Order: sequence, then structure tokens, then C-alpha cells
Amino acid sequence: MSNNYLEVTNLKKSFGGIKAVDIQSLKLNKDQLTSIIGPNGAGKTTFFDLISGFQDSDNGKVYLNDKNITKSQPYLIARLGMIRTFQLTKVFDRMTVLENMMFSASNVNNDSFLKSLIKLPSQKINEKNIRDKSFEIMKELNIEHMADSYARELSGGQKKLLELGRSIINDPKILLLDEPLAGVNPKLAEEILEIILNLSEKGISILMVEHNIEAVMKISERVIVLAEGKVIADNTPENVRTDENVISAYLGSENE
Ligand SMILES: Nc1ncnc2c1ncn2[C@@H]1O[C@H](COP(=O)(O)OP(=O)(O)O)[C@@H](O)[C@H]1O
Ligand SMILES: [Mg+2]
Repeated sequence: MSNNYLEVTNLKKSFGGIKAVDIQSLKLNKDQLTSIIGPNGAGKTTFFDLISGFQDSDNGKVYLNDKNITKSQPYLIARLGMIRTFQLTKVFDRMTVLENMMFSASNVNNDSFLKSLIKLPSQKINEKNIRDKSFEIMKELNIEHMADSYARELSGGQKKLLELGRSIINDPKILLLDEPLAGVNPKLAEEILEIILNLSEKGISILMVEHNIEAVMKISERVIVLAEGKVIADNTPENVRTDENVISAYLGSENE
């Protein structure tokens, strides 16, 4: 088997006249912590939407471990082991931290949420397992003390941690992280980076979109740069840093 978990060919998405994503070919390697950077509006989030099934592409193919997932729904892609987080966190404000964790777990593992409401004995055991696992992960993420707090009481950074927790409770093989450090204070950002590195070392393939270039350069083995939907650089952090196309893409976007 190849070492690529994701392959896209000729992937396109336009909004009106704007080419949000226009990628000829891209392969992502299982054991390479990879980041996508690029100016605002470069197409990073849209790219995540396309590969995780949250939007249909206009054209092109997406393969996950050689399986064609081009038209697959998000929940099916999640079941195949590729799970994403969102730039704007999608935690449930009216649920507690623990409930958020448990809901995410049952959401993917059970056939239906309704079925999980009718509690058969086997499901009670399942619920205990999910609760234990939730606590284990909350502990790892340092949000265990907030288990009974409503998610709306969390800081921006803690919400990012909760969202990360909700995504890892389903044992992903691949994690797509959309701006995991956005709105997070520097100290917590360091912690989150550490957690991401740990997940990567545990064997989860990480693809991260992030605005914080210093953080990206610090932990990534490969950096892909998008501008106006296209890949303009794809290299090691050191080489991307000095790439003329990259520098001018960022300068151009600042002048706007
Ligand atoms: N739902 C949408 N409708 C119209 N235009 C969109 C939509 N989503 C994204 N765009 C446009 O597509 C481009 C890429 O956006 P996005 O993928 O969010 O960029 P990034 O995440 O890199 O900042 C931008 O020009 C944005 O305005
Ligand atoms: Mg974005």
C-alpha cells in the first residue's frame, strides 16, 4: 500500500467568478505533519470542505486511502477515519463539556441517536465506556476540571481544546485541523501545539490549516501554500520561508 492517505486530482470549486479552489494534483503522506498556509481567502477552508464532504466540488476527484470519496457525505468520511475541526468551533454551547464529548462519540459510533436513547443493557455498557474515554481525553487536554461546565462558559482557547477532544474521541486516523490556534492566547497555543505533536507521534496523520506561521514552521514537516485557490509552493518549512512566490503572495494580500 502507498504511503499517501489522500490524493486529489483536478479539484475545482468556484463561487460566482471566484476560483476558491483549483488544485491540479496533491498527495498527502501518512507520516508527515503537513500544514496549509496562505493569505485570507486563499481557499484553505474550502479545500477542507471539499475533502471532508461538507461541500461538493465542481470538478475533480478525492481519494482517501485509494477509495474514491468525491461524492461522499461527511459522516461516511468520518467513519473512514478522517475527521475535521472547524475554524469557527462547532461545540454545543447549551451542553456541558462532558455532554459535548459523549454526544460526539455516540454520534459516529451508534446507528442513530434515537436508538441510543432507548437504553439496552449493551448500550449502558457502551455509555460507560464512552464516559470513561471522555474523561481520559479531557484529562489529556487539561479540560477535565470543566467537565460539568456549559461549553458557553469556556474561553475561546478552551473551546478549541473541546473541539479537538470531540474529534479525537472517535479515534481518527487522519485529523484535519482548521486554524486550531485562532483566537487562542500564546500560552494555550503552545499547549495545543504540543497536543498536536503528540497526536502526530501517536500515528494520527495531521493536516493543519493555520494562520500562525511561526507555529506552522515549528511543527510541520511539509508546508503547502495556497493563493487564489492554487498551490504556489509545497516544500519544507525552511524552503517555503524564503520562496519568492510565497513572499509576494503574502505582501500582495497585505497591500489590499
Ligand atoms: N459559501 C461561499 N460563498 C461565496 N464565496 C465563498 C464561499 N466560501 C468561500 N468563498 C470565497 O472563496 C474564497 C476562498 O475562501 P476560503 O476557503 O474561506 O479561504 P481561506 O480559508 O483560505 O481564508 C474567498 O474568496 C471566499 O470569499
Ligand atoms: Mg479559512
